[in-house]
Amino acid sequence: MNAKPQHTKKVPQTPRRILGLVASPRSYGNCELFTKEISQHIEGEHTLRLIRLTSLNIKPCRGCYRCIMDNPCPNKDDMEFLMREIVDADAVILSSPVYFLGANGIIKNILDRAFLFYQIIRKTYGTPCILINFYGIKDRLGMAPQMLQTFSAFLGLTVKASVNIQAALPGEALMSKTNLDKAKQLADILFSTKNLRKKYGCPFCNCEIIRIVKKGFICTLCHGHFTADARGGFVKIKEGPVLGPPEHLLLHKEWLKTMKTQFLAKRKELVKIISRYKDIGEWIKP
Ligand SMILES: Cc1cc2nc3c(=O)[nH]c(=O)nc-3n(C[C@H](O)[C@H](O)[C@H](O)COP(=O)(O)O)c2cc1C
Repeated sequence: MNAKPQHTKKVPQTPRRILGLVASPRSYGNCELFTKEISQHIEGEHTLRLIRLTSLNIKPCRGCYRCIMDNPCPNKDDMEFLMREIVDADAVILSSPVYFLGANGIIKNILDRAFLFYQIIRKTYGTPCILINFYGIKDRLGMAPQMLQTFSAFLGLTVKASVNIQAALPGEALMSKTNLDKAKQLADILFSTKNLRKKYGCPFCNCEIIRIVKKGFICTLCHGHFTADARGGFVKIKEGPVLGPPEHLLLHKEWLKTMKTQFLAKRKELVKIISRYKDIGEWIKP
């Protein structure tokens, strides 16, 4: 996982393309305005292209694995458009409001289609990104930051900062000097070598949400295994298998392909099991 990236992002274009992915349905809400505020502070010639993710037509993944077998996705929707824009971007600003202790559901809908990201990962790997969650009530962030981190991880984006800003009313995020300073700071680091990564959280990937297991903790993002010492510091046990450079992520795709052979070998047995449940219950629709 910590292997040096063999794929460095293409040299930025002139003007640099900033892509703002806005996961809020609210026009002139915090996500939109703060993204625009950051862009105004980015030095050098650049454009800001904005996509309101909640307006996209993103169908649910059918779980057919056709894309894993390198066949086209049967869903004809806006995924291709979205992926093309992410590939063409020199930097991404991904923002979402917290909705019921998670990011807006469109983030999960897109993530459910992320087998498709394997097609572009070599081109998106290393693209700098900033993740921002807006939330209304003190500390009620739930799992939202982890959801945006997962989104960026499966695209191989380099997270320069993952920030959480409390602001309930549309535009409220821009009423405080602290937040305005933060926007400037985020703009300054986007194309620099600096980042604002937190020093706590998972000792492998900094994710703040961890699962408690019998012998310590498992990170809910990278799935690294670690424990705590007597002073509360984290002690690494084993690196997780989830994240890494494209060649690592693509190993998962290759493994999934082998499942087809397994399926064919067990098909008769599986059909027998399925047939026992076929006529049980009644499917109802609205
Ligand atoms: C349906 C809904 C659910 C929300 N759930 C939460 C929540 O769980 N925690 C929280 O702190 N704020 C919650 N909020 C408040 C929003 O996160 C907050 O207003 C945010 O600034 C909205 O961003 P926007 O202006 O870009 O849409 C919720 C708002 C809505 C509309």
